[in-house]
Amino acid sequence: MAEKNLSGDVYYPPNGIVKNAHIKDWDELNARAHDDYQGFWASIAEELHWYKKWDAVLDDSGKPFYKWFVGGRTNIVHSCLDRHTEGAHRNKLALIWEGEDGAFQSYSYFALLRETKRFANVLKSLGVRKGDRVTLYMGRIPELAIGMLACARIGAMHSVVYGGFSVEALHERLEDSHSKVLIVSDGAYQRGKIVPLKDIADEALQRAATVESVLVVRRTGEPINMESGRDMWYHELAKLPIANVDCPCEEMDAEDPLFLLYTSGTTGKPKAILHTHGGYMVGTYATLKYVFDIQEQDRYWCAADPGWITGHSYIVYGPLLNGATNFMYEGAPTYPYPNRWWQMIEKYGINILYTAPTAIRGLMRFGENWPNRHDLSSLRLLGSVGEPINPEAWKWYHRVIGGGRCPIMDTWWQTETGMFMITPMPCVALKPGSGTRPFPGIEMDIYNEEGKPVGANEEGYLVIKTPWPAMLRTIYGDPDRYVEQYWSKYEGVYMTGDSAKRDEDGYYWVIGRVDDVIKVSGYRLGTAEIESALVSHHDIAEAAVIGLPHDVKGNVIHAFVILRAGAAPGEHFIEELRQHVGHEVGPIAKPEHIEIVDSLPKTRSGKIMRRVLKAQALGEDPGNLSTLEE
Ligand code: WT7
Repeated sequence: MAEKNLSGDVYYPPNGIVKNAHIKDWDELNARAHDDYQGFWASIAEELHWYKKWDAVLDDSGKPFYKWFVGGRTNIVHSCLDRHTEGAHRNKLALIWEGEDGAFQSYSYFALLRETKRFANVLKSLGVRKGDRVTLYMGRIPELAIGMLACARIGAMHSVVYGGFSVEALHERLEDSHSKVLIVSDGAYQRGKIVPLKDIADEALQRAATVESVLVVRRTGEPINMESGRDMWYHELAKLPIANVDCPCEEMDAEDPLFLLYTSGTTGKPKAILHTHGGYMVGTYATLKYVFDIQEQDRYWCAADPGWITGHSYIVYGPLLNGATNFMYEGAPTYPYPNRWWQMIEKYGINILYTAPTAIRGLMRFGENWPNRHDLSSLRLLGSVGEPINPEAWKWYHRVIGGGRCPIMDTWWQTETGMFMITPMPCVALKPGSGTRPFPGIEMDIYNEEGKPVGANEEGYLVIKTPWPAMLRTIYGDPDRYVEQYWSKYEGVYMTGDSAKRDEDGYYWVIGRVDDVIKVSGYRLGTAEIESALVSHHDIAEAAVIGLPHDVKGNVIHAFVILRAGAAPGEHFIEELRQHVGHEVGPIAKPEHIEIVDSLPKTRSGKIMRRVLKAQALGEDPGNLSTLEE
């Protein structure tokens, strides 16, 4: 609206969309939030349910251990479900679900609340109490969302492990979180096949001492092993009188933990990012409302997996907080044919589609005929997340899927931020490949090595300068690492781990990770996890892993391995190694290439110099080699 004379390739907001949007004037909102960001967030918090109002919006006395809505009492599930069933949303569809095999289910707000209460009582009957950890390892089915909500309702912390992870990844997360209960589905449909989640879980459980009970949700009906005394079918417990639907929300402190979500960092094991009931609720509610402009009649679809933060914030919590109708699909985008998504958009009349660049690039390869065969005119807004979107994919998405009329919300954020941080709104002029500017109330910058802001179009470290309500509170069980990892490079400033540029219009262009995190198809993996999986193979002495650019996946994993003395690799050795990584971490972590080498470039202190390997692989100049050992 106010934007004119922007440089570069600019897409101005369509009037029809802006006219009815929650936010029509970004500058006005931004100015208001900038003047008093605490007041801004407090006014949004007023729209949600609190048993007791907060005494202070922000307590920064223990920074970087910030506290939000201090003294407030709430439970996020009350605002997600109970409050809607008390009013006009009682019969509104909360969730529409389609299975890969064509199965269908839908839940009104009333039904979703009922099933959440039932699930919560089953968890209680297994001894789950406030503060306990419960791990969920399931396919994309309604029970995953219901299980998460059930945990939150009784004050237990959920820890969802993505169903694409495998034995060691699951084992590590069960162990680190000291989970008392594991909720698992018997299997998951993926590309017409069944992923044997329960079998994988059985293997992981052999070494996970804290798990007392395993609650098994039936999805595929395939025969599985049930260990007596430990494993119980959900549908059997749900029939018992204890599984009634009398289950009030546990009243939580605003700062009480809501969930743990493991993510990869620079070094070592994945870390458990901790989010809380109060601030996370306010942040996810507001960002989804303003950015995807949730309207009463909308059908909203976030095609991510609930096992990642996108699914937590924008499949489960954000949409329900907004009283939205959520669509969820179980399987692969191209199953059985590459028109599956477009078919469902037409069938269900989806208005908002939120997905990742890798999915768009993957679907682009099949050509325009597949989407063109379907009526996609219900779409009003599109979204992108997970990695930078290349302008070519952006334009295809805009033109072919959005029919040239749907603005694309390219949202930059992280597991740690809990909510969108750099994002447009429907009223903002767009530039393909840029997430535009920080969400109102959030101050960000781009610093050089010395902590000075860089000039226009110069690359630097992307940082966040003000606290925000949905920020992570700590790394569970490792507060020192929280401080070290995020708050130690620059005083009082949050380090994102990304590099970025800002153009002359103040638009941000995120370039990518500057640490040892690799984004493969938008999935976040750490070099350390993959390397440790490689060296756990009996023939491997040392391993180093880098990410190399790929047209569809963004990046792929390239591994260098040194064999153990005496190892005699057979003909299928490389494939065996790939399978080994798949088994330990998950199929997404399988290296695309594995090279057997005699040595790895290291610093004198013995650290592998991955940037040297990367430069070599790309035929680029490796830069400063003064610390190289030999
Ligand atoms: C990293 C965080 C947040 C949901 C999914 C990812 C990259 C994320 C964008 C975007 C460019 C992006 C960053 C970030 N990233 N969104 N719109 N444009 N890069 O969460 O797994 O915690 O990964 O994803 O590198 O640091 P995550």
